[in-house]
Order: sequence, then structure tokens, then C-alpha cells
Amino acid sequence: MEIKEQQFRIQGLALSDLAQKYGTPLYVYDGEKILQQVEKLKTAFSEVTMRIKYATKALSNINILKLMKKAGTGVDAVSIEEIKLCMHVGFQPQEIMYTPNCVSFEEIKEAVELGVMVNIDNIPMLEHFGTEYGNTVPLCVRLNPHILAGGNAKISVGHIDSKFGISILQLKHVLRIVEAYNLNVIGLHVHTGSDILDAEVFLKGAEILFDAAKEFKDLRFLDFGGGFKVAYKIGDITTDIHEIGKKVSNAFKTFCKEYGRELELWFEPGKFLVSECGYLLVKTNVVKSTPATTFVGVDSGLNHLLRPMMYDAYHDVVNISKLDGPERVYTLVGYICETDTIAADRKLKEVKEGDIIAIKNAGAYGYSMASNYNSRLRPAEILLFRGKDFLIRERESFEDILRNQPMVDLE
Ligand code: LLP
Repeated sequence: MEIKEQQFRIQGLALSDLAQKYGTPLYVYDGEKILQQVEKLKTAFSEVTMRIKYATKALSNINILKLMKKAGTGVDAVSIEEIKLCMHVGFQPQEIMYTPNCVSFEEIKEAVELGVMVNIDNIPMLEHFGTEYGNTVPLCVRLNPHILAGGNAKISVGHIDSKFGISILQLKHVLRIVEAYNLNVIGLHVHTGSDILDAEVFLKGAEILFDAAKEFKDLRFLDFGGGFKVAYKIGDITTDIHEIGKKVSNAFKTFCKEYGRELELWFEPGKFLVSECGYLLVKTNVVKSTPATTFVGVDSGLNHLLRPMMYDAYHDVVNISKLDGPERVYTLVGYICETDTIAADRKLKEVKEGDIIAIKNAGAYGYSMASNYNSRLRPAEILLFRGKDFLIRERESFEDILRNQPMVDLE
């Protein structure tokens, strides 16, 4: 009982009390867990000069960014808006890496004007960059190593058909442009996908990067992207960060010797840092039995957590209103007018109307992918830090939905 109850308390605070205090649906983040993950990553790579560039898109609340700053990470941003958020919380431009895909050159120029380094991911933009800046602005080049890796097709981005990065097969073309414009390339980058388990995948990416790096004279860092897999369910195999740390650091040190200069090793994790810290608390609106299935219908859905529908992602769910008694098999569904199954055929302690269900692993790509679909309001966000709860985003209001929609005169 004691142990079970522990599961629903974070930093001494009961999740059910938070649901009561702030209402549902509610995103709750464990700030201490985030700091632990940052430390874990730092320790795994303590043999080399490693920099963390937190993937802002995973969870971009400004208070989470502030916590990252406190933990000593930098950030990776994928839009000018993310850059501005990061600067808003005090990140210096030089702590921000901008890794855009298919954005306009205007947006790239805006980032450069803010003093942020750009990670260029296609040949036309590399040429524009050369024409505009020559060798006056340092840059990073994103290469696509053609490695098929990652949890599923939608999050595998390093393969040959992917829209991301410049094909490694086009390296000669890149080198011609670099020479023609005398570009100051100080970093090379690869990111193969999300939910990667195997150290070998990172090593394979590293080998490709090392080979390419030999062609560049002024590098200061190599960026291996993100993608470490976290546990989504009990018993899941996860990335062994220490094994990756050891293997990649060794290979990196050997390469640096060969290159003749100490380089920095960069990573841009999102999920590893913030996935497990997050819980989406939802309330049971109805328990509805059909001849085949017992559905638990909750006050949330794909509008708040898209991952189960978009990637068939597995999220553990717990009935935190019922700590003991028999279990039954339920299918947890949302209130959206779509088939928004959050968790199918799961054993939960007997659920009744009003019970609070915690959806785990909701920190990464949860709120940041949420929408107003069905004109529903987005949830509030709470950060737990040093045993205290902080409201870090107000629940949306109906006025927020109406905002920006002027009523025009159609007469
Ligand atoms: N760096 C780059 C260039 C990326 O594109 C991404 C993720 C990351 C780093 C961080 O990857 P992570 O460590 O979080 O796996 N919404 C999907 C994941 C999409 C990831 C997109 N890029 C999901 O919920 O599974």
C-alpha cells in the first residue's frame, strides 16, 4: 500500500491533490527528475567535453527552459519563435543552436541577426548563406548519414528518403560550396531519429561524421543529435546511456587525436531529459461498456496528447483514485470526435466516474504538440520543484479560443 501510494506522489505531493487543486486535464512535471536526467547525461560523457543542447520542441514552457538554464544546458531551437522563447528566459545567443528544416532564408537571416548559430540543412540555403555572409558568420552543417534508426517511420529522419539534412552522398557538393564562399563551418551535425536503443547506431553515425569531418579544417564541435530511448512501459529496454557514453566518448577521443584538435561533442536530447518527468492527469467522464469493450472516456484526447494516435505510442496509465482492489481491463479513450484511443486493453484498478487517471511519460511532445481541436481548451501546466507546486501555464479560457478571430460583417 505504502509502495503503491508512493507511485502517485512526487516530491511528497500527491497527484490526486494537484488534480483537485488545479482541475483536469492537467500536465504535471517533476523538475527534480529533469535535473537528475541532465546529471545522468553529463556523468555518462564526463570523459569528453560534452555540451547538451536541449531540444526545446519537446517541452517548451519557459519555466522548463529556465530550469534547463539553471542545470547548465544550452538549447536547440527549430523555429525563430523557439529562439525567442529561449532568449526570453536568458539564454545567450551563443548558447542556442538553430536547426531549422525548410524555413525561408529570411528566417535564417533573422536568427543570424540575433547572434544565433544556424545548422544549415540543405544546399540552396548553404549557397544563400555563402552569398549573404561569406566567411563572416560561423555555421554548422546538418548531414543526413542515411541510417535507418528510430522507434517508427514517422520519427526516423536519418534515412535516404528523409527530408532532413544534406545527404552524405552530396558531401563533395557541400565542399565545393564551402570553398567557393570560403564558409566558416565550425560544426557538423547528424540526427538519425527518436527512440534509439542501440549504442551501435550512435557509433555508426559517429563514424560517418568523423569521415566527413576530416574534410573540414576549422571544426569546433560535432553534434550527434538526440534520440535516446526512454522507458514507456515497465520492463521496456531503454538506451543504456553509460554504454553509449563510454563507446561514443572513446571513439570521439580517438578521432580528436587524429584531427589534431580537441573538439566539443554535442547532443540535443528531448525525450531523455523530459519524457519521464511528465504526467497528464485526466478525469473519467464515463465508464461505457459495449459487448466487446469497457471504455473509460476521459476529459482529454488527441488534442492534448497526440502521441498514441500519431505514433501508436504506448503510455502507461494508472487510476490514481483507486489504490487497491480488483483490476479490470479497460480501453482509455478521449472525448474528441475521432477514434482517439489513449491506451487500449489495459489493466486498471476498477474505474468509476470522476476517477483521475495519470498518463505517464507525457513530458516530451505532450503539451508541445497539443491543439485546440474540437475547440477544446488546452490544459494547465504545473511544475513541481523542491517539494512545491508552481502553476507555469494557465488553463486556456474560452476567450483564448475567440481571440484572433475578428467577427466580420457579412452583410
Ligand atoms: N535534434 C533534432 C534535430 C531533432 O529533430 C530531434 C527530434 C531531437 C534532436 C530530439 O529528439 P529526442 O531526443 O526527443 O528523441 N514527436 C515525436 C518525436 C519527434 C522528434 C523530432 N525531432 C514523438 O513524440 O515521438
